[in-house]
Amino acid sequence: MKSLLCLLTILLSGLAACAGPQPVPEAGTPTAAAFEARCGSCHALPHPARHRAEEWPHLLALMERRMAERGLAPLSDGERQRLLDYLQRHAR
Ligand code: HEC
Repeated sequence: MKSLLCLLTILLSGLAACAGPQPVPEAGTPTAAAFEARCGSCHALPHPARHRAEEWPHLLALMERRMAERGLAPLSDGERQRLLDYLQRHAR
């Protein structure tokens, strides 16, 4: 019953949180490293599957504003595109 609830939770929320922290998608690649470096400094690393692909552009723009407010280096065009592709590739 418990595992059934867990499965339901996964299906309903898209958060596969039942097995504990999820590994970063494409772990070990330069893109995953950039994701960890750029997206884990202010809050816990958000799993890309937290949001749908069409939600990520807006969220990423919002995060870039937060980075500017904190005086962090802005994303380069290449970095932004790589991160957006990555987030959307693994989106819900
Ligand atoms: C400069 C600090 C900072 C950095 C760096 C940052 N965030 Fe955020 N993030 C925030 C703040 C602050 C919030 C809370 C909502 C708000 O005020 O915009 C937030 C909220 C979020 C949320 C919405 C809540 C949630 O957990 O679903 C997501 C998703 C997110 N960030 C993803 C990212 C991603 C992806 C990156 C890397 C591109 C990133 N963040 C980098 C500061 C940051």
